[in-house]
Amino acid sequence: MADMDGILENKDKDYGIGTPVATNNYHLKGLEGTDWGIRDRMSRIFRPSTGKTVMLAFDHGYIMGPTSGLERLDLGIAPLIKYADSLMCTRGSLRSVVPANSNKAICLRYSAGSTILTELNNECVIDPIDAVRLNASALAVMISAGGTYEALTIKNLVKAADYGYKYGIPTMGVTAVGTQMARDSKYFGLASRVAAENGANIVKTYYCDGFAKVVNACPVPIVIAGGKKLPELEALELCYVAINEGAAGVDMGRNVFQSEAPEAMIQAVSAVVHEGLSAKQGYEMFLDLK
Ligand code: 5RP
Repeated sequence: MADMDGILENKDKDYGIGTPVATNNYHLKGLEGTDWGIRDRMSRIFRPSTGKTVMLAFDHGYIMGPTSGLERLDLGIAPLIKYADSLMCTRGSLRSVVPANSNKAICLRYSAGSTILTELNNECVIDPIDAVRLNASALAVMISAGGTYEALTIKNLVKAADYGYKYGIPTMGVTAVGTQMARDSKYFGLASRVAAENGANIVKTYYCDGFAKVVNACPVPIVIAGGKKLPELEALELCYVAINEGAAGVDMGRNVFQSEAPEAMIQAVSAVVHEGLSAKQGYEMFLDLK
């Protein structure tokens, strides 16, 4: 019989009195109305034990080419894979440098089509069958609220979510910020909510003042991007405040792969995200490991 929290308790003595045998209390918000495949893939991305993820982002080359720290994907990324819970990357880098036996959740860069040399965000989406073939755990699609390509990018998200629900793959809405947009809770709150309402199961956005309001107004988990390279202590402070204000993890690239000690940095980030270390403790860990 289900109790008020939806926990099924098996009263049979073979299982022990009151042992919970099934639950619908998921470790993430927004999963109740989704199918099994989406829940399974979300549980691969976000550790069930903490409800959080350290997503290593290295998709930058799809718009920027060989970004600093990613000139050699094989050397820059391969040693970091084992420390991440999930990898955010393009199908090109996935096929070339990520061993298929890494057993990591893949958040596949699913929208593409322009570079930093022209107008960003004029994107299309890739074939969903290729995402299935790659066993993607999520489809990452850029949305540009308020930008020139707002309608196109939101249609891309809608298309991805339609395919995602068809094939049981979560969609991650990636909120782009145009140079004319304020990087504040009003803007990120709007963009995150629009992404979720249009079908995203995860939102990637940026930390800002009033971040808790952005989180609370978004019905699905939010992960924060790291942004431009910061000194390591500041990057760990960013992780700490975001997690403490409700982020379900980080989607971090440059602050890891451009660090003076990337392997030490990703381990310190993971300890702040999953183990509750303060930024200072994380920094001490970074110094010890580097
Ligand atoms: C680039 C992206 C990045 O994956 C995302 O911004 C995270 O990387 P970083 O921590 O370097 O900002 O979406 O298009």
